[in-house]
Amino acid sequence: MNLEVKIGKKLLPNPVGVASGTFGYGSEYESLIDLSQLGAIYTKAVTLEPRAGNDLPRLIETPSGIINSIGLANVGIKRFIEEKISYLKTLPCAIIANVAGSTEDDYKVVVDKLENCNCIWGYEINVSCPNVKCGGMAFGTDPVQIERLTLMLRKRTDKPLIIKLTPNVTDITVTAKAAESGGADAISCINTLVGMVIDTKKKKPVLAMKTGGLSGPAIRPVGVAMTYRASHAVKIPVIGMGGIMCADDAIQYLLAGASAIEVGTATFVDPKIPTQVLDGIQKYMKQEALNSIADFWKFIE
Ligand SMILES: Cc1cc2nc3c(=O)[nH]c(=O)nc-3n(C[C@H](O)[C@H](O)[C@H](O)COP(=O)(O)O)c2cc1C
Repeated sequence: MNLEVKIGKKLLPNPVGVASGTFGYGSEYESLIDLSQLGAIYTKAVTLEPRAGNDLPRLIETPSGIINSIGLANVGIKRFIEEKISYLKTLPCAIIANVAGSTEDDYKVVVDKLENCNCIWGYEINVSCPNVKCGGMAFGTDPVQIERLTLMLRKRTDKPLIIKLTPNVTDITVTAKAAESGGADAISCINTLVGMVIDTKKKKPVLAMKTGGLSGPAIRPVGVAMTYRASHAVKIPVIGMGGIMCADDAIQYLLAGASAIEVGTATFVDPKIPTQVLDGIQKYMKQEALNSIADFWKFIE
């Protein structure tokens, strides 16, 4: 059985990754899970400047999910390189840097600086964060900006370039095609869906930012549908995510056309879920006589 996944010119050992923003920089989970079993760690977003993120409260549990308005809180590229790279270098799995920015230039500078870090396997370009005032989702809902940003970054790196798409659009095939024509090696979808919770006693939104991004099992059918639509619209691989809690959920994404998947909110429930998902995928492949990830795609037109 071959679990490898080709993204651009490189191979991931298996399709199971952990989603950006839900797994820190890896060290937070090293005593809880065997990191060598992961196909990839997608780091917390790194931006040009350090960001404290949005005001509290910025996380709330909802039926079958959570809404966060963290706002890309991170140490910034300088401290990322000074403080995180030496640890990331020691990890036994692919490290994919999730990069966010407010302007095209932000993305350019961050990627240029990361190009000097050998341990970075590839980039996941976050054009889909719903929780920031500038950049973020504003890039990700405009196909022209997606294509231009991708073209610009494509010229700066040979490493796998993955564009992470937002579900907060009318038609994800349009943004997926824009990333493909800009030269992306893959797209990943979905980021969180805009959501809101109101405290009826106070008659005010619960989150300081009023709205946030919904993740967890509540969004899984949306993620599966968008993965299905995107993967049938482009030739490049699609990395699917949204609400994966167990192997069966991940298998839905693979059957929908995903080449790989990411586990996010589930790791807050049980950090072992990503490795259980990998075990379950292998068992399913054996039972169904599937020899490779591509074999999943032949069932649903
Ligand atoms: C607390 C939190 C922080 C997140 N931070 C990021 C981020 O920095 N960059 C990014 O691209 N996505 C971020 N995401 C989105 C996830 O990577 C993922 O796309 C989304 O949560 C859907 O997957 P899930 O339902 O399995 O969590 C974040 C999600 C959560 C819950």
